[in-house]
Amino acid sequence: MISAEKIPNNVGLSSNKRLQRALEHWQPKYIQWWKDMGPQGFQDYHHVYVRTAVSVDPSGWAHFEYVKLPEYRWGIFLADPVHDRRIGFGDFLGQPVWQEVPGEFRNQLRRLIVTQGDTEPASVEQQRWLGQRCPSLYDLRNLFQVNVEEGRHLWAMVYLLHSYFGRDGRDEAEELLARQSGNRDKPRILDAFNEPIENWLDFFMFTMFTDRDGKSQLLSLSESSLDPLSRTTRFMLTEEAHHMFVGETGISRIVERTCQLLQNAGYSEDVRRLGGIDLPTIQKFINLWFSLSLDLHGNEISTNAATYFGNGLKGRAQEDRWDDHHVTEAMYELEVPGEGRLERKAIPMRTAMNEVLRDWYVGDCEAGVQRWNKIFERHSMSDRLRLPDRKFNRGIGMFSSLHFDPSGAPLSNEEWERRKNEWLPSPADREYLLSIMAQPVYEPGKFANYISPPLRGINRQPIHFEYVRTEA
Ligand SMILES: [Fe+2]
Ligand SMILES: [Fe+2]
Repeated sequence: MISAEKIPNNVGLSSNKRLQRALEHWQPKYIQWWKDMGPQGFQDYHHVYVRTAVSVDPSGWAHFEYVKLPEYRWGIFLADPVHDRRIGFGDFLGQPVWQEVPGEFRNQLRRLIVTQGDTEPASVEQQRWLGQRCPSLYDLRNLFQVNVEEGRHLWAMVYLLHSYFGRDGRDEAEELLARQSGNRDKPRILDAFNEPIENWLDFFMFTMFTDRDGKSQLLSLSESSLDPLSRTTRFMLTEEAHHMFVGETGISRIVERTCQLLQNAGYSEDVRRLGGIDLPTIQKFINLWFSLSLDLHGNEISTNAATYFGNGLKGRAQEDRWDDHHVTEAMYELEVPGEGRLERKAIPMRTAMNEVLRDWYVGDCEAGVQRWNKIFERHSMSDRLRLPDRKFNRGIGMFSSLHFDPSGAPLSNEEWERRKNEWLPSPADREYLLSIMAQPVYEPGKFANYISPPLRGINRQPIHFEYVRTEA
């Protein structure tokens, strides 16, 4: 039964009959999906120390308790309204924002919401086997926290579909549970969300780079003229921050451990022989997940992106930091493949909005990599991790039919085929990672050999806290 007790919300669910009816139909299917496609092996007998959002104020969204995963209270929250909010960019700049969906933009808005919504359950599906290989209870709990919040993000998008898009919206909400990550017949919409995440290095890279794409997209949607979309995504951003924290600190802890292992062995030993993850492998996974996540920002030149901007549907990240919000005259210069070499070309900025967002994204990733590199400095080591050039390993956009090495130098097809395993994870790398993750670590306070403990626990609990309990 649908109740405010079970579904914490600030959207007036108890008096909204239409939404209640729609959710009564959808919610049981969601729970079935969660059991079938959510964390495998942790549905029935485990209690997880997770955070549940019970309201949007800072104290309310950091409410911690032990729950059984299928009994998590997935809620519906909008960030507080901004008084007299006005459209911040595009052709309707300065007009009041919309509380309902304008008919002429209905299809475009639905498409934006469905594309965002599709990524949320997709990542839960991708990560569903990881619990069986976890490096510690602390990490296991973080995985499940990310998973339940991605589930809640799905609820957030489904709320919009049910509330503002009538019959079509309800159909789309069903489809969001019907597509499956990696499924040949009914895959998820975006490629990076069909890639398997089979080991914890993938998982930490995914939460570092792909959840950060989520942040890009949510920042640009939170500028939207459709106020409910803006408020929904603004609240989602608060949760997204924890996902990126999990990814960034996960890699930091692996790098830290690798440095220790190297140091203990007098820098002469192969880290793999010590059971750690060697730096070249870490670099390959950066190359992979960064390039896959760059693709998520779409084509460099895009009339869709121009239309979304012009119509006020999707803005730039932190739109208020720009001076010109009409962007009718401004040009944007980018690198394009020309006759046998790369050329610089200026195009109208509106058509380059995907690239503008990608710039923001690359900068945010770069700052994270710099934080990782501080670890080497602390250990007085000269090694460094880096982002590959943005032309490297692209599957979407102007560079997708060409090949480049991580420094951006062009390569022939043959050379790419011959050398790609130097830059991207090879089957042997994956096999090695699975071999060191084969035994999960479920003992409180214990950590797998390839990763350091975190600096502190969750919600001021000690590191040896029993973050996931098993029923006797
Ligand atoms: Fe999400
Ligand atoms: Fe996320």
